[in-house]
Amino acid sequence: MYIWVECGKFLRECRQHFHTTGAILPSSRFLARALVRPLHGPRPAWRILEVGPGTGAVTREIARRMLPGDRLDAVEINGHFAELVERRVRQERIFARCRDQIEIIHAAVQELFGEAIYDLIVSGLPLNNFPAHEVREIFATYNRLLKPGGTLTFYEYTLVRQLKSPFVDRRERRRLFRVGRVMRGYIRDYQIRRERIFINVPPATVRYLRFKPVTPRPAVETAVHPSSVLQL
Ligand SMILES: C[S@@+](CC[C@H](N)C(=O)[O-])C[C@H]1O[C@@H](n2cnc3c(N)ncnc32)[C@H](O)[C@@H]1O
Repeated sequence: MYIWVECGKFLRECRQHFHTTGAILPSSRFLARALVRPLHGPRPAWRILEVGPGTGAVTREIARRMLPGDRLDAVEINGHFAELVERRVRQERIFARCRDQIEIIHAAVQELFGEAIYDLIVSGLPLNNFPAHEVREIFATYNRLLKPGGTLTFYEYTLVRQLKSPFVDRRERRRLFRVGRVMRGYIRDYQIRRERIFINVPPATVRYLRFKPVTPRPAVETAVHPSSVLQL
């Protein structure tokens, strides 16, 4: 899809559903690449969840990095975006190699069932647009869906809360403060790395979180035959 067609579709959805879309343009290639960084390098086959694919800017970068045994589920709340990205996966050349490994789910991420399913979650959600309780619920969902040792990547537009606060009413300022508190808590407890991306509108910070360490393998018990026990 041509970049300006993609931007036009994104802007139209943004005007109608700003609360859930939360951006006026799709992510730049630089931001999308940073979000899929954990897919680089040698690794086993993974189950990957993309949350909020929108027009597919990040989905495309995930597809580029998918291995033959990987599975990608992309969950999208907006029906127009879900249809659009489904069509792109079916028709565009970049997806040809892995289209049978991709499933588009039209739902809110909070509605997904299951526990410890994914090795990687790539989130495009505009968390700063949501009430604090919804942000908490979304992080709890990510925590539930990630396997131990799995990684969550997401981004925030740089300084968005601080820049917005002076220009909004008290209620909105309080909401931004509460969202900030929830986000800072998760970042303090679980962030393993971050990356700043300047070539994006607006510039963004990508964060990499790990909620649970890899489960240690159970210790191998060495069976001791009674006759091998030394008699002292
Ligand atoms: C900021 S846009 C990101 C789009 C795309 N990932 C990108 O980077 O260009 C946020 C996307 O999240 C979707 N979304 C918002 N809330 C959602 C939810 N609870 N579950 C799934 N998708 C959601 C929106 O419809 C929108 O497509």
